[in-house]
Amino acid sequence: MTGTDALAVRDLHAGYAGTTVLDGVDFAVPAGTVVALLGRNGVGKTTFVHTVMGLLKPYSGSIRVDGHELAGAAAHTVARHGVAIVPQGRRVFAPLTVEENLRIGSRGEHGAWTRERVYELMPPLAERRAHRGDQLSGGEQQMLAIGRALLRNPRLLLLDEPSDGLAPAVVDRIAGLLEGLRGEGIAAVLVEQDLHLAFRLADEVAVMRKGRIVHRSSTADFRQDRERAHSLLGVG
Ligand SMILES: Nc1ncnc2c1ncn2[C@@H]1O[C@H](COP(=O)(O)OP(=O)(O)OP(=O)(O)O)[C@@H](O)[C@H]1O
Ligand SMILES: [Mg+2]
Repeated sequence: MTGTDALAVRDLHAGYAGTTVLDGVDFAVPAGTVVALLGRNGVGKTTFVHTVMGLLKPYSGSIRVDGHELAGAAAHTVARHGVAIVPQGRRVFAPLTVEENLRIGSRGEHGAWTRERVYELMPPLAERRAHRGDQLSGGEQQMLAIGRALLRNPRLLLLDEPSDGLAPAVVDRIAGLLEGLRGEGIAAVLVEQDLHLAFRLADEVAVMRKGRIVHRSSTADFRQDRERAHSLLGVG
């Protein structure tokens, strides 16, 4: 971990009401790269991204974003440092239209990403800009959640299972979309259970088990080691 990492987490402990979920997480994302965070259900992946985002206060440990210590900072402070989350389950505002959801996302901030640019990237959202959040398909809701995060002009994107509950063809479309962002220089943590998606997008792979990172390698190395993938994830 160096000062140039987009994210550098050390010995992070966190949980709920005194219970330990994250039990000493060390995790780094080099600037501009995508690191997949894999792991079985309930190992603490969402707890991790929520803690990085400032939605959950850690018990102890360090969370550096572009070298700034942010452990324990509020979510709006973390957001100001260029971190945005695409939450598990998407969490679009059901009664609000696509346009209104995106307006909330942008909060009048200035940067490379505008609503028009989001609509260009995701034409289905442009077609449905007057539709309510709950009138969208799962894939469209995922696009909306991604668009909302992009409007924060993030340097670090926390994607929590973007494939969750989506049909394979829709996952493929979301993957293509995220691939198209590679040139933007946005670093990302990609939490995934869908290994194909993780392998397609990530430069490196980390595996979490019982609130710790138990494996880290390049995606290419991990792909070739089916036995290891099987023992760590129960797949392959
Ligand atoms: N708000 C909460 N209050 C109490 N316990 C929680 C809360 N959220 C999660 N947990 C517990 O923390 C542990 C880790 O949950 P977490 O959601 O971080 O796992 P995950 O790896 O994201 O799982 P999944 O793959 O199912 O999304 C689980 O035992 C879960 O029951
Ligand atoms: Mg989760």
